[in-house]
Amino acid sequence: MCGIMGYIGKRDTVEVLLEGLRRLEYRGYDSAGVAVLVDGKVEVVKTKGKISDLADVLKDRKPEGRVGIAHTRWATHGPPSTKNAHPHADCKGHIAVVHNGIIENYLELREQLHAEGHRFRSETDTETLAHLFEKYYQGDLEKAVRRGLKDVEGSYAVVAVCDGDPGTMVAARQHSPLIVGLGERPGESFVASDPSAILSFTRRAYLIDNGEMVVVTADGVKVKTLAGKPVKKSVFHIEWDPGMAERGGHKHFMIKEIFEQPHALRETIGERIVGREMKLHLAELNLTDAYLRRVKKIVVIACGTASYAGMAGQYAIEKVCGVPVIVDVASELQHRECVFDKNTLGIAISQSGETADTLLAMHMAHRRGAKLLAITNVIGSSVARAADGLLYIHAGPEIGVASTKAYTSQILATLLFCVHLALARGAIKPAAARRLLRGMKKLPGQAEEFLKKEAGHIKRLAKKYKNVMRYLYLGRGAHYCTAMEGALKIKEIAYLDAEGYAAGEMKHGPLALVTDEVAVLSTAVEGPHYRKSIGNLQEIRARGGKVVALANEGDEEIRKYADDVIRVPKADEVLSPVLAGIPMQLYAYYVADLWDREIDQPRNLAKSVTVE
Ligand code: F6R
Repeated sequence: MCGIMGYIGKRDTVEVLLEGLRRLEYRGYDSAGVAVLVDGKVEVVKTKGKISDLADVLKDRKPEGRVGIAHTRWATHGPPSTKNAHPHADCKGHIAVVHNGIIENYLELREQLHAEGHRFRSETDTETLAHLFEKYYQGDLEKAVRRGLKDVEGSYAVVAVCDGDPGTMVAARQHSPLIVGLGERPGESFVASDPSAILSFTRRAYLIDNGEMVVVTADGVKVKTLAGKPVKKSVFHIEWDPGMAERGGHKHFMIKEIFEQPHALRETIGERIVGREMKLHLAELNLTDAYLRRVKKIVVIACGTASYAGMAGQYAIEKVCGVPVIVDVASELQHRECVFDKNTLGIAISQSGETADTLLAMHMAHRRGAKLLAITNVIGSSVARAADGLLYIHAGPEIGVASTKAYTSQILATLLFCVHLALARGAIKPAAARRLLRGMKKLPGQAEEFLKKEAGHIKRLAKKYKNVMRYLYLGRGAHYCTAMEGALKIKEIAYLDAEGYAAGEMKHGPLALVTDEVAVLSTAVEGPHYRKSIGNLQEIRARGGKVVALANEGDEEIRKYADDVIRVPKADEVLSPVLAGIPMQLYAYYVADLWDREIDQPRNLAKSVTVE
């Protein structure tokens, strides 16, 4: 959360910073600001609101200079306001900083600095950094930042500029993402939270690691450890192209990304299933068959939607491989004594690859001896770098805050791993593995067909049920995850009350919620749980609830038990959550659009949750 951007070079600095912030806005959007070195002085312009509000303010007060930093905020300490917006400056306005992360000992530092005569203007933890750097500044910004950070506990990606060193940006990273873009024009460099911010300027970057500092001037980029030891970095090439991060004529990124799913699923498969004999080849997996045979337990480490993708993987792995799988949200996992050992494989699933809770739980699993596989979208992200093995989902940039294409691609990647694991352990016959892989190869086409046939129908259903304020989402077996994900989608973008539930649990309490004012979206696709799912639908209708069922094409019986039916293509039971996720996304999207919600940037949320 929070996006940071910095620029040194000869382009229009404010325009470059604004372009970067627009790309980072998904990380936070409650206030924003820039600081530019103008004639040897630090000029700060900031405002409550979105990047468009900042751009409006900058129209009348545009600072011109060659060095600048910028920030888009997701509030942690202090409410969204102009005062709490970054950049923050020291007492005399000589130093300005932007920061992503949390300074955990900020109250203590603030008290101490206050007692030493520093005057604070905001309620943020970040401002302590500006005063700390001021305290230690003796004509050298790099030294001041290095010394100041010694006093700091917590997480940060921080960039500082200073009027005493007007041609320099100093940045540092500890547990919050940071990259440096190597400009294509002479003397030009960028600092940013992630590659999307610099895509339109350069695709060459250094990925900065925890405990590293960067000093950027017109002469180039120097990377050092926080202790000052030089670090040699290799250049990382960003694969995404700028067009991928545009809305491309769609009203919202979310709907664009929903419709991109056939392509994203194809990319997830890529060259991984080879030839007619369906050879499975997971190039970056880096986990030997001998190790996979020793695995006694798998723990999925993920948050939110990614954890629901993990639930789909859990069902498949337990069924196909016979290996026990635990799924728990990473924020809980890291605080309980979950048993990790050398025979435990942790599977970390994260679209952004920067989710703080996921990373912390991964570190804990590693410390306890587990190996880690990362399933992530962002190449070179922190999650990718913290793992032993990798499976990139290759879904392309996901900008809408609500995860869509990453979810279905994450499930598919987990399924690919499931078959690999089953083969390594001899838990599946080659013919059965081929059948599953063939089924996976069909999924992109089925998703395409589905979107063509059913999107209009789902839009009409959204209209029909527009005034329903309370939802229950139900699913069983492989589709428990579909229920959880469906409920999360409508909560986060339409702001409607929704509960995701295991269908069989209804009678243990939630059935009391069912009235004629409640709509129930339930999966009832073919498979071992079909009859039981039908039983649940009858219980709901007997109590007046309206039922929208997700059922397979050709199932006529379902009409007796549902007010409306959404038809999803048939697929093997363990593969079917990929397809069933899509109607849930579409339904939530169309309802939210009817309510005129800010779909790509729902209130209170940010896409990349880099704080605990
Ligand atoms: C919901 C959503 C979130 C994320 C969660 C994890 O639509 O997007 O629940 O899934 O914050 O994010 P990543 O996958 O980036 O670790």
